[in-house]
Amino acid sequence: MKYRITRSTLAFTLAALGAVMAVSFADFAQSQDAPAADVAPAEATPADAPPPAPTVDPLVAKGEYLARAGNCVSCHTRHGGEPFAGGLAFQTPYSFLGEIHSTNITPDPETGIGTWTEADFIRAMHTGVAADGSKLFPAFPYTAFTLVGEDDLKAIYAYLKTVAPVKYTPPGNGIAFMMRWPMTFWNALFFKEGRYQPDTKQTEEWNRGAYLVEGLGHCSACHTPRNLLLAERQDVKYTGGTQPDVVAEGKVRTWSAANLTQAKSGLGGWSQDNIAKYLKSGHSPKAGIFGPMNEVIINSLQHLTPEDAKAMSVYIKSLPAMGESPTQTLTAEQKTAGEALYKTHCEECHNSSGRGAFLKAPPVAGSAIVQATHPASLINSILYGAKVGVGSPNPFGAWEDMPSFAGKMTDDEIAKLANFLRTNWDNVGGPVTAADVAKQR
Ligand code: HEC
Ligand code: HEC
Ligand code: HEC
Repeated sequence: MKYRITRSTLAFTLAALGAVMAVSFADFAQSQDAPAADVAPAEATPADAPPPAPTVDPLVAKGEYLARAGNCVSCHTRHGGEPFAGGLAFQTPYSFLGEIHSTNITPDPETGIGTWTEADFIRAMHTGVAADGSKLFPAFPYTAFTLVGEDDLKAIYAYLKTVAPVKYTPPGNGIAFMMRWPMTFWNALFFKEGRYQPDTKQTEEWNRGAYLVEGLGHCSACHTPRNLLLAERQDVKYTGGTQPDVVAEGKVRTWSAANLTQAKSGLGGWSQDNIAKYLKSGHSPKAGIFGPMNEVIINSLQHLTPEDAKAMSVYIKSLPAMGESPTQTLTAEQKTAGEALYKTHCEECHNSSGRGAFLKAPPVAGSAIVQATHPASLINSILYGAKVGVGSPNPFGAWEDMPSFAGKMTDDEIAKLANFLRTNWDNVGGPVTAADVAKQR
């Protein structure tokens, strides 16, 4: 008994130490990048006094672009709240730790970062230390932002100074996130401070892509599995992490991010152009935008220049295959049952070949979602459908939503179907059980 108490106390302290994982509660539709409405001005401008064209400081414009690349707005805007005013809640896989909230980064002097100097801001981004010296939790991805060059951070600082100041204090954090001192140990164990160092053996384009993916883009925050203390595991980088996020309005469940390496169960089947198209537009012949990637693409990646999106794709295409999913063998009976479910519910759009069809659906054969080590996102797509977020770039040929099948199949049927998908057409992926499906309901 005593042993148990010690164990759980230890687990609590360790988990508090490790603290946090990014993402969650974000509202898919929340996009502060809605096209400016072309409404007529309320008062006609006198003909003799044309308003001067607004001059945008190039440093501010650069900062705005980079703030988008870092997707600051998705995390620093609560549901229905003002952009950058914070208050969005984040959960970790350890629910007993409670929630942590993003801060107000508008220039309000009392509740935001209005009194922060440029040096304070740079220190926070590079080292995870706030202006008052307190240690920030890595739900704020300073572990990635540390790579960002000082000039780029100066531009972001200049831009944040120009956003509307909002007087708003985010809610208090869960008890575990009121203690900040454990972060000293966490940082000592897991945080490597330092700017991005170009690889001289690679092209300039590859280095630009690596700088964006590793730094501001913080892709590894979701796409890398974490250890028990919630630090990213460098030995399996980009092979696909898991995190709590929204599955449907007001409902949070686990998602699994895809393996971004060239593994067969990852992006092995995607060309560099497929990757670039998906990042820039949320659509490519391989996949359409849904789930947590809605926010990433709608609020951030679609605003990048085609050159930057291409550079990122060049870097991602170069990630060596790692973390291949395990295989399984179905009995003839299991295969027949799974195939029958596929014919009834899925074939109409995804085709008997599994290759999908133009204007109908993306392929499930070779899909990184179907084959992911952790099946959460595959199960979510079946239970909740695959929904294209509001504000998606929606290029020509993009698919519409896939419907939800939660009411049409039992947990056992969805598990059978998932196992069929994970073994047919040369796909790989370990077994999915009815209990796995039940957890996602
Ligand atoms: C994945 C979510 C996420 C993203 C993306 C993100 N932040 Fe944050 N940020 C947070 C959270 C959560 C906190 C609060 C951390 C804490 O309280 O320890 C935070 C804290 C901060 C702080 C400290 C503020 C204070 O008052 O202590 C600054 C500055 C900041 N973020 C700036 C940015 C900028 C600039 C960007 C974009 C380049 C950005 N953040 C992107 C989640 C995020
Ligand atoms: C907030 C967490 C999060 C972040 C940040 C994130 N991803 Fe993802 N990503 C996911 C999840 C979860 C999935 C699987 C479900 C989905 O598509 O939303 C995914 C899927 C993908 C896929 C496969 C899509 C498919 O349907 O096969 C690609 C490619 C991808 N992400 C690239 C990136 C890149 C590049 C970045 C960095 C710029 C990035 N992601 C940042 C969570 C994230
Ligand atoms: C009415 C047409 C339709 C039906 C029926 C349908 N889907 Fe889909 N599916 C789609 C569309 C469209 C998308 C892409 C949606 C988007 O871009 O957000 C999709 C996406 C997916 C994805 C994500 C693929 C990836 O790699 O990003 C999976 C997995 C999936 N469907 C599985 C299934 C399964 C399993 C069934 C049967 C239970 C099914 N679908 C039934 C239309 C359909």
